[in-house]
Amino acid sequence: MRIAVPLAHAHRLLNHGPTTLVSTAHAGRRNVMAAAWVMPLDFEPAKFAAVIAADTFTRELLVASGECVLHAPTTDQVDLTYALGTHGGRDGDKFERFQVASEAASLVQAPLVRGCAAWLECRRVPEPAIEARHDLFVLECVAAWADGALWADGDWRFVDGGPRTIHHRKGGLFFATGSSLAARR
Ligand SMILES: Cc1cc2nc3c(=O)[nH]c(=O)nc-3n(C[C@H](O)[C@H](O)[C@H](O)COP(=O)(O)O)c2cc1C
Repeated sequence: MRIAVPLAHAHRLLNHGPTTLVSTAHAGRRNVMAAAWVMPLDFEPAKFAAVIAADTFTRELLVASGECVLHAPTTDQVDLTYALGTHGGRDGDKFERFQVASEAASLVQAPLVRGCAAWLECRRVPEPAIEARHDLFVLECVAAWADGALWADGDWRFVDGGPRTIHHRKGGLFFATGSSLAARR
């Protein structure tokens, strides 16, 4: 079940550096791509930085709409994540092509991909200079959600044998998020 995450905790959803999916929608078109280069940028308001390459359809829709949803896909979605990161959406709807189940977000037009571990509805904070120079987008999170089976009390709760978030290494090879380690405090 999808549960709301307070915006003050939104950074924790991506703090461990998982590969993401970025969905967008504008003027009757929608799209979703994989993005590994996404990271928290600020606590409150919750902001994230995302590298979105200039030639992607995602970037076209993100700039046109000013909105996107960042997702943390799971180990059950490795094939889907790789497919969405190796096929462009300009020539056809990737949701249909890859049978991606989706539902409406709460505050943005971009859809939520079902089955993910986390969803962050975001609005673009326009920074034309760094977007043009570094393909880097600043995104403010306006609503955040997590799978209640994987998230409780403001933290991840991955269990042995269950789904986990994923981390891209290269060419379709990923790590699953590992075990929890607690530093001495
Ligand atoms: C695992 C993975 C991670 C990726 N990370 C990024 C990224 O951080 N930024 C980016 O611009 N492209 C990244 N890509 C490439 C895009 O997902 C790819 O260019 C995609 O086809 C763009 O789709 P679109 O044109 O439909 O937006 C990644 C691809 C894969 C497979």
